[in-house]
Amino acid sequence: MNITPTLSQPFVLPRASARSIEDAVETEAERAIRPVKLDIRNLSVFYGKFRAIADINISIPAHQVTAIIGPSGCGKSTLLRAINRMTDLTPGSHAEGEILLDGENILASGIDVVQIRQRVGMVFQRPNPFPKSIYDNVAYGPRLYGIHRRTELDEIVEHSLQRSALWDEVKEKLNQSGMALSGGQQQRLCIARALAVEPAVILMDEPASALDPIATLKIEDLMQHLKEEYTIVIVTHNMQQAARVSDYTAFLMIDDERAGRLVEFGTTNRIFTRPEKKQTEDYVTGRFG
Ligand SMILES: Nc1ncnc2c1ncn2[C@@H]1O[C@H](COP(=O)(O)OP(=O)(O)OP(=O)(O)O)[C@@H](O)[C@H]1O
Ligand SMILES: [Mg+2]
Repeated sequence: MNITPTLSQPFVLPRASARSIEDAVETEAERAIRPVKLDIRNLSVFYGKFRAIADINISIPAHQVTAIIGPSGCGKSTLLRAINRMTDLTPGSHAEGEILLDGENILASGIDVVQIRQRVGMVFQRPNPFPKSIYDNVAYGPRLYGIHRRTELDEIVEHSLQRSALWDEVKEKLNQSGMALSGGQQQRLCIARALAVEPAVILMDEPASALDPIATLKIEDLMQHLKEEYTIVIVTHNMQQAARVSDYTAFLMIDDERAGRLVEFGTTNRIFTRPEKKQTEDYVTGRFG
């Protein structure tokens, strides 16, 4: 299958199809496969008065990789950021609807946001290690949560670096700066940093787009191991990457009010081979519009 990865132009749906995408469906068989980790219900996120995403409904299965795809500006990062309440950090933004994490609505008032961010970790597009040693990068979160015993920290640092497939490359130089690593190593360090606080969900916003092909493959390979322990949600612009790494795919598109809406959600296999919506087929085959 030859799929064109670069589709950066916003695409505006005509009004009729904007209405028709509201009934985005997943087949009964698909829905029955897995327990749901994150249940996103009627989620809208606003920046001031602008509704960036509208009425999103997605049931994200546990211990799977779910990819969020769609044209630039359709709200992929906004959706991801809502899932660990990072949208709160943008002044004037607010979310409506529900995001149930293991059945608990993390958008409810009074919820402990610090605890949510511990349970839902985030890895960004550009590797962003702190200007600290490799060790201190990984120990940062655990220390923040009150762990200070050296033996305990040593264990967490080693275990996290093992799980992010970086340990063998850095075990002799844990006191060197994290900034001195290669881009791909830095990204795996950021993954280790996210893992160190024992999250249940890991959000990744285009985690490999700043990396070379070899480093990209390492991250993709790593995701396949990580999903045994975690639920992973990844935003990617790259169709081949979505097809390679994800078990489920959500396709978003911009409607005529410039809000991102879910067009279709289902197993990646079905979305890429038997999409139910014409827009999905056009997007995944690169024949957009
Ligand atoms: N902090 C913000 N303040 C105001 N508007 C914002 C903010 N962040 C995003 N937006 C708007 O919300 C919409 C969705 O943006 P978002 O970054 O979520 O899209 P995206 O799908 O991740 O795009 P890309 O593929 O380019 O990363 C866009 O119209 C964008 O301009
Ligand atoms: Mg984005």
